[in-house]
Amino acid sequence: MSDAPKYLLHSYGCQMNKLDSELVESKLNERGYVPAEGEADADVVLLNTCSVRQHAEDRVWSRLGVLRKSKRANPGLVVGVIGCMAEEHKRYLRARMPHVDLVVGPSAFGDIDDKVEELRAKNRALLKPEVDPTRGLGEEGVVLSGHGVSGDTIKRNVRVRPHRSQAFVSVMRGCNMPCAYCIVPTTRGKEISRPIADIVEEAQRLCDDGVTEITLLGQTVNAYGRDLGKGVTLAALLRALHEIPSLRRLAFITSHPNFLSPELIDALAELPKIARYLHLPAQSGSDAVLKRMRRGYTYDRYVRRAEQLWDKAPDIELQSDWIVGFPGETDEEFRRTIDLMERIEFSQSYVFKYSPRPATLSADEMVDDVPDPVKAERNQVLLALQEKHTKKKHDALLGSTQEILVTGDSKVAGRMSGRTWHHRIVHFDSTDQSLIGQYLPVRIDEALGHSLVGTVLAYDAAETPA
Ligand code: 5AD
Ligand code: SF4
Repeated sequence: MSDAPKYLLHSYGCQMNKLDSELVESKLNERGYVPAEGEADADVVLLNTCSVRQHAEDRVWSRLGVLRKSKRANPGLVVGVIGCMAEEHKRYLRARMPHVDLVVGPSAFGDIDDKVEELRAKNRALLKPEVDPTRGLGEEGVVLSGHGVSGDTIKRNVRVRPHRSQAFVSVMRGCNMPCAYCIVPTTRGKEISRPIADIVEEAQRLCDDGVTEITLLGQTVNAYGRDLGKGVTLAALLRALHEIPSLRRLAFITSHPNFLSPELIDALAELPKIARYLHLPAQSGSDAVLKRMRRGYTYDRYVRRAEQLWDKAPDIELQSDWIVGFPGETDEEFRRTIDLMERIEFSQSYVFKYSPRPATLSADEMVDDVPDPVKAERNQVLLALQEKHTKKKHDALLGSTQEILVTGDSKVAGRMSGRTWHHRIVHFDSTDQSLIGQYLPVRIDEALGHSLVGTVLAYDAAETPA
């Protein structure tokens, strides 16, 4: 066994958080740290946390409770809370959880490996029988936070990544939107876009190392570039990335309905490497609720945008997020959400029960007055409706041929999975690991609730996107 220090990194929350975790991991790996098998053999446990709903936070608080015991058993252990909760609770997190050594907000990951090293040394110095490890480092713990600080971005080591052919690339951080319910502007700060040249350079390095599918990440990814001046837009970025010869598929999440510009629609219509789905959260179908949410559009405007999109790119499917039980949401208002769902027929929906977040407009100035059972029921109604739409779309695909990028083993033994250009999951019978990363045509044989089952038609990757 090697003496290399071992770390465990748990990730919660959105894709942006998962990518941040990858970057933190790559920093630790470069420092000589290796992944631990479990908590028992870890020298460092980091939780990369999410604040978007109370439920996500509760999971972290309870995990931290368990880690208190681990720390008692292994006083040299370094415990870190990083990401959105670190930013949100930076002032009192270590008072509430004294066994936490390190608190690092999502804009301050730059020298996290140095801090982990420092703390390991300090903790080892505390390894004396008379010291109660659960009391932690007191003043000596480390809290890093703030936005736009130097060390904000980590120069990416493209070789450290979980998938050989797929990668996420962050194009901007933060969010400038005024959504009444959302904590993200507090935890992640104002929008900061990366220059196109930097993104293209990173993407090129990823593609040189075998990546063929890139998903661009931003909280409002289609607002990309507005802090960088004229001509710097998501459409321009997509066109630049499209030039990378070995890149085959390009997607981006998450889009805001207000920034679905004609220029972006043209890019979606013209560029053959762009995946055929758009994550375009509507949140609600009621104009009154949308207004209380400060979303800046109406039911009609959302539908108009979708129609403009389909006018030029009819094969693009829309995915949405929905919040049910926003303050004051009446049955009538909720029915408008059902209407909008029926009208658009989304390919996928994520449905959330409203959860008041500290220091947001809706938590401060509105009453969380929709009872939980009503939220739960509305949640079920939307999920059932989405399932119906998904089933309908899946049934329509039966017998068709779809090109998938093979991503790995499926949960069912003897099967593997891939993703279509519409981001649908297709399972097929095989255990041939050499297929991972290939683009294969499959015939769709069976429609399941959340995925499809198909048969691979040929092993030679098709040359052009479907
Ligand atoms: N309560 C419930 N859901 C929320 N979301 C964001 N903030 C809240 C909140 N306070 C949802 C939105 C967003 C998704 C990432 O999380 O639907 O699109
Ligand atoms: Fe959660 Fe939002 Fe932070 Fe992502 S940006 S981890 S969704 S709070």
